[in-house]
Amino acid sequence: MTTEEQPHIFARQSRHLNLDPGVYFFCNCGRSQDGIFCDGAHKGTSFGPKRFKIESPRSVSLCQCKYSKNKPYCDGEHRQLPKD
Ligand code: FES
Repeated sequence: MTTEEQPHIFARQSRHLNLDPGVYFFCNCGRSQDGIFCDGAHKGTSFGPKRFKIESPRSVSLCQCKYSKNKPYCDGEHRQLPKD
């Protein structure tokens, strides 16, 4: 696997947000400005956004390290990542 195929670790903690119902596009590459939602910064990489849907207003804990196995949601994987 090349370096380009590794997601960028935006942050080693989750981000809590209150989301309204709707369709969202989660950033898988870790290069977007806010580290959460795709803004097209993945262009030229092997990554693309993950579409997810919120059915009713809810509080969510979203992955910012990009290594969660349950994206877009945090699964605590950031605690297992090797330090830089
Ligand atoms: S900007 Fe990261 S997946 Fe689009």
